[in-house]
Formats: sequence, C-alpha cells, structure tokens
Amino acid sequence: MDRPYLDLGPCGPLRGVLRVPGDKSVTHRGLMLLALSQGEGRLFYPLKAGDTLSTARVLRALGAEILEEKGPEGARLAREEGPHFRVRGQGLRLKEPEDVLDCGNAGTLIRLVLGILAGQEGLFAVLTGDASLRRRPMGRVVEPLRAMGASIDGREGGKKAPLAVRGRGLKGVSYTLPVPSAQVKSALLLAGLFAEGVTEVVEPVPTRDHTERLFRHFGLPLEAEGPRIRTRRAEPFPARDLTVPGDFSSAAFFLVAALLTPGSEVTVEGVGLNPTRTGLLKVLQEMGADLEWQVVEGEAGEPVGWIRARYSPLKGVSVDPGLIPLMVDEVPALAAAAAWAEGETYIPGLSELRVKESDRVAAIAHNLRALGVGVEEGPDWLRIQGGGVKPGEVEPFHDHRIAMAFAVAALPVGVRVWEPHWAEISYPGFFQDLKRLCGAS
Ligand code: S3P
Repeated sequence: MDRPYLDLGPCGPLRGVLRVPGDKSVTHRGLMLLALSQGEGRLFYPLKAGDTLSTARVLRALGAEILEEKGPEGARLAREEGPHFRVRGQGLRLKEPEDVLDCGNAGTLIRLVLGILAGQEGLFAVLTGDASLRRRPMGRVVEPLRAMGASIDGREGGKKAPLAVRGRGLKGVSYTLPVPSAQVKSALLLAGLFAEGVTEVVEPVPTRDHTERLFRHFGLPLEAEGPRIRTRRAEPFPARDLTVPGDFSSAAFFLVAALLTPGSEVTVEGVGLNPTRTGLLKVLQEMGADLEWQVVEGEAGEPVGWIRARYSPLKGVSVDPGLIPLMVDEVPALAAAAAWAEGETYIPGLSELRVKESDRVAAIAHNLRALGVGVEEGPDWLRIQGGGVKPGEVEPFHDHRIAMAFAVAALPVGVRVWEPHWAEISYPGFFQDLKRLCGAS
C-alpha cells in the first residue's frame, strides 16, 4: 500500500493570530472527573483528537453518557457556551465494561483510568491499546497500586498492557515517585479517592499539576505541602462545568516555527500558561528568543493567556536538566529550534523520552540527521550542532509530536512528512493551521 505523505514549504514568514486546540492533559482529566461526578456537567473547548476521543469511548463503556455538542455558531469564549462535551456521570461507582477497553495511543488514559478502576470493588476490566502503548512501561503505576491493595495482572507480570484489573478495597499509602511522572502521580491520587485513609504522593521533582487543580475545582480532598500531595476517600460530588485552556504543547510548535523563520510574528491566544508546563519558554529565552506572554484569565484553576513569538537569531545553550519535567513534551520542538541556533545545544535529563509514544531521543536524532543536522545521542542526552537544516524527509515513528516538530524544523527549506495523520493524536488541523499562518495554500 502507498504510504501517505505531505510535502510542505518552503514557506514563510509566519504571521497572524492562532488558537490551538484544547489541552490534552486537562481534557483527559476533565472527562474522567465528570464521569465520576453526579449530575451533568459540560467540558468547554475540549481537545477532540485521537487520544481524548479514546478517553470518551472508554468512559462511555464504563457507564458515563458523553455527548459532543457544538454550541452556537462563532462562539469563542466559555460564557458564549462554545463547543463542549456534555457529560452525565455515574457517580463514584462505575459500570463493569462488557468488552476490553481500547486506550488507543493514550498513555495518560490507560494509566489514570487504571487508578480509578483499581478501587471499583468487584468490577473487572481489561485495558489495552495500540502497538506503541503496549510497548510502554506500566509497572510504574501497577506496582504502587498493588501496594495500595490493587489486584492487577498483565503481560510480563503487569509491566506491559494488556492489563487486567479486578477492583478491590484499597488502603492509602505514602509513595515517593522514583521517576518524575504526572501520570503516575495522578493515577495514585485518583485511586486515593477510593482508598481507606490518606494517600500521599511525594514528588521530589515537580511535574504538571492539572490533577491537583481539578480536584480543587470539583471540591475533592486535596492537600499540597511542598513535594507532598495528599488525598483521601471522596464523598459523592456534584458535576461542575469547566473550560479547557489551549494546549501549550501544541502552541510550542508555532512559537518555534515563528522563531526560526525570518520575518515571522505569531500570537497564540487562549493558551494555558500553567508554570508546570512552560519550561520551554525559559530555555528559548536563554537561546535569545523574542517572546512575550501574559496571563489574562483563569479557567478551572488554570492560568490562561497569550504568547507572542517573533523571528529571532538563536544561540545554542546547555539546558538545565531540572527543567525537563516542566517541558517533557516540548523537547522535539526544542530540538527543532536547536537545529537553527548558532552553535551547540546540549539537552540532558532525557531518560523519560525513551518511553514516550516513540523513543523520542532516537526519533529526534534520526530526523535531525535526515535534515543534515549534526547530532550525537547518549542514553539520556542529545548534543545538537546548530546552523540550519537541509530539505529532507521526516519520519514520525508513529508519534504525533515528532511529526509536528520536524515539519516545523524544515519549514523554511521544504520537507516531506511521512504519515502526517499522526499529528491528529493531539492536533487535528495542525497542517492546515501551519499552512494558513505561513501563507501557503
Ligand atoms: C501527561 C504527563 C506526561 C506527558 C504526557 C501527558 C499527563 O507523561 O509526557 O504527554 O497528562 O499527565 P509522564 O507522566 O509519563 O511524564
């Protein structure tokens, strides 16, 4: 069969104002918490893409009613009631699914929903996903959930999906995260809503805190004291509407595209500016990027605002590894910027990138080489020789962020992107938005 591809550029400058689709992390969590609530609530401006549609499908199989509603034509703000999911929850007790639950490509879905299912006494469920998800490590959630009393089995003793779970009475534990992972933290906090006593997660390195903010939005038990985050058994709680900010991780590709394409100026509006997500802004500024941003409102406890990026000659930097958890999904975009910077960029602290939708360290190195960029790859680091890229071909390795980052990296010189549909996992319409902003047809 012919492999699909898209030829892009050369194009630029990029100019204009953009709204990116809703935040993937907040959409997953918003849907899950509404599914556990009582009554009906609306999730405005959700991400409707491969990953979050998988979440809606799984939650429907667990008894939640989820309708997609458009809202009035042209509505842009929450108060004008724009596009939303209308969710009628099951309360804290979910329905046993009739079939295997397919989590598609979504790591956040399989790990977080496992935390919820572990505490549903007597309920049996099997979770699986696509080839990429079935390769990813699940022991990191299975082990601490077992310490809480969960009954979970799976391939390789529970290290890989498919996973089978039989809900049980859980007991709270205190667990220190061995790797910085918001998914592990969130799975345990969700399980804690069904556990006896206190469930405490200690995170030596901060990770995205959307779960904590949403627990507060829904009035669920939550105490955060420095690195210690605690919850306990939840009482039935009412549904509440919430609005999803634009996804900073999606915005990142356009910021980088503007920075490396001469003459560009792009403003992204309505985007989430949660400080546990925006480490990339700091690194780009250090590289000499002309960036401005401002928080203008708050939605469901999340700061939201705009970011403006103008073309800037960049210089290579050595990245602080402590920032990586605050930009864990933006490293491919940073690699695109580094390819155009003057001099060398060193990015350490990348061990977690080996176990994302693809092995992103290898995927970044492969695509940089394919675009004529000098790169050295270590077990958990990359060293990138900047100076610009040559026209070439991008191999996404079944990974949405790799497809988007390298489309951007090669935009000024022209590029062929194989299997561009991978972008739809988190950003349907990405290539249309890119073409619109750079004036291509
Ligand atoms: C996510 C957490 C991160 C991130 C992923 C989404 C989340 O994963 O890479 O895209 O929504 O909690 P880890 O928790 O594995 O770092």
